[in-house]
Amino acid sequence: MISFFIINFSTLAEKKAGKMEKQYLITVLAVLFATVHAIVEVEDFFPFGISNGDEYLESGDDTSSLEQNLSVMFPFFGYNHSSLWVNVNGAISFNAPISTYTPRCAPVHHEYRMISPFWADVDTQAETPTPRSAITYRESTASADLQKAKDEIVNAFPDLSHFNPTWSYIVTWYNVTFFHDIPTRTIRNTFQATITTDGRHSFAIFYYNKIQWTTGRASNGHHEKGIGGTPAQIGFDAGDYHNRTMLDVSCKDSVINVSSLSNVGKPGVFVFRIDSAEIIKPQIASIIAVREFPEGIKCPPNSIQLRTNESVCYSFHPSLSQFVVAERECNSFGANLVSLKNKYTGVYIPQLANLLFKHLEVEEFWTNAHRLIDESTFTWTDGKDFQYKNWKNNESEEKETINDCVAVNLEKGFWFPENCFSRLPFVCEFYGKGKEVPPTALVLEEFPDLPKHISNAQNEMDTPFSIYSMNY
Ligand SMILES: *[C@@H]1O[C@H](CO)[C@@H](O)[C@H](O)[C@H]1NC(C)=O
Ligand SMILES: *[C@@H]1O[C@H](CO)[C@@H](O)[C@H](O)[C@H]1NC(C)=O
Ligand SMILES: *[C@@H]1O[C@H](CO)[C@@H](O)[C@H](O)[C@H]1NC(C)=O
Ligand SMILES: *[C@@H]1O[C@H](CO)[C@@H](O)[C@H](O)[C@H]1NC(C)=O
Ligand SMILES: *[C@@H]1O[C@H](CO)[C@@H](O)[C@H](O)[C@H]1NC(C)=O
Ligand SMILES: *[C@@H]1O[C@H](CO)[C@@H](O)[C@H](O)[C@H]1NC(C)=O
Ligand SMILES: *[C@@H]1O[C@H](CO)[C@@H](O)[C@H](O)[C@H]1NC(C)=O
Repeated sequence: MISFFIINFSTLAEKKAGKMEKQYLITVLAVLFATVHAIVEVEDFFPFGISNGDEYLESGDDTSSLEQNLSVMFPFFGYNHSSLWVNVNGAISFNAPISTYTPRCAPVHHEYRMISPFWADVDTQAETPTPRSAITYRESTASADLQKAKDEIVNAFPDLSHFNPTWSYIVTWYNVTFFHDIPTRTIRNTFQATITTDGRHSFAIFYYNKIQWTTGRASNGHHEKGIGGTPAQIGFDAGDYHNRTMLDVSCKDSVINVSSLSNVGKPGVFVFRIDSAEIIKPQIASIIAVREFPEGIKCPPNSIQLRTNESVCYSFHPSLSQFVVAERECNSFGANLVSLKNKYTGVYIPQLANLLFKHLEVEEFWTNAHRLIDESTFTWTDGKDFQYKNWKNNESEEKETINDCVAVNLEKGFWFPENCFSRLPFVCEFYGKGKEVPPTALVLEEFPDLPKHISNAQNEMDTPFSIYSMNY
């Protein structure tokens, strides 16, 4: 099951004097929470293991690799590094090998300048590394690895589409257990940390597949279950007794659920920019609702206007995207996912969407309705009232499902709660002026007729509609 926890919600309303313009800004920071099934599949990790050119880290308890000289300078927390250590205990360190098995969970000194995908008491001393359980690592400049790193970074930081990594280092903790190592114990963790740089900027990408334990026995963990005590730390330490960035779940019992969390909307994936003194998190988890009401503005190219007297514009985006990603794409040009606030749009938009998306082999598209803020009720992100409804089944039935984002059926126009992680095409809605809609948005050459049966349904139907801007 999937649900979102909202950690911050604020509304800003502002009126600009002398202009008939209002602007509403709603920022919703959503943190994706909790699904047992939503994880990064091992097949979706950066390729790893001996067959992919990795080296095994020798078996051990609290041990580390030899110092690994790097072929480039790696910037981290404002310092350039020419070497690193891979540590059994779930960390990459830059100033010294780390043998500490209980994570510090507090500011640390020089030796501990480190990246911790899962700092906890991993123990491999009783096992010979095999493809079924091992810690492996490699430096990579392979184009496939660099492209994969780039894809993750650009997804997390859309402004960095020009970033081209030239180097990466991939460390994988595959199917490892906790102190004391028992080779037959099946409670195991699988995670991967990739660091990458172009010499100037650098990033860390964490993938979590299976996280079944958080704590070794010597960190007061349960001797069989590997939980309790001081749970694993996830984050970045500068090693200056001060600067550090940790995940919210770091050092908490809830770190066991990290493979269903994300800071980029993809369960089990975390991306951070790590070269400068301040570790930078992606903005992808922000949903920004923007509304403007300028006068008599026409819709820009690549969008569609439904009524002559209104400057509401719609754009139709075929790229299959998860809910938050779709909303962010709309936000990027001052739009929101579409809200179907009356029968007119409720019928018309799905019909246009059906014409434009029918080649995609999907049956639905995203609207901006969800229940991520208040789990008990669906709302529109842009704050419009939720009076008009077109649920597939009746509303009380819809409220019982576990899905939190509202999709619309292309053929029939009815709504239903959909898994927010599904990838669907989407429609954005915005108010005219000065917006540049991406050229990938689809427009129609001909406008379909509105179905007769709704022609008297809404007073808003009185005005004839036309398209002001298809392709200029
Ligand atoms: C790494 O570099 C250091 C300093 O240049 C050197 O002393 C050491 O031998 C190198 N290690 C390896 C494994 O090449
Ligand atoms: C790190 O190396 C880069 C590239 O060589 C250089 O531009 C930068 O000034 C260095 N940073 C520090 C803190 O030395
Ligand atoms: C992980 O290790 C356990 C214990 O050795 C083993 O039973 C299991 O099959 C391994 N899992 C994978 C996916 O290799
Ligand atoms: C992990 O997530 C599950 C499912 O949401 C939840 O029931 C459980 O309490 C969470 N565990 C911890 C330790 O937070
Ligand atoms: C933390 O980082 C900032 C920015 O580089 C730096 O000014 C400050 O001195 C650091 N704090 C400590 C305690 O080193
Ligand atoms: C809605 O569905 C529920 C559960 O199936 C049913 O009990 C209820 O009577 C239905 N309400 C309406 C208005 O159809
Ligand atoms: C457009 O026309 C409809 C129908 O007359 C009306 O209800 C609506 O308020 C008008 N919109 C604007 C922005 O004037």
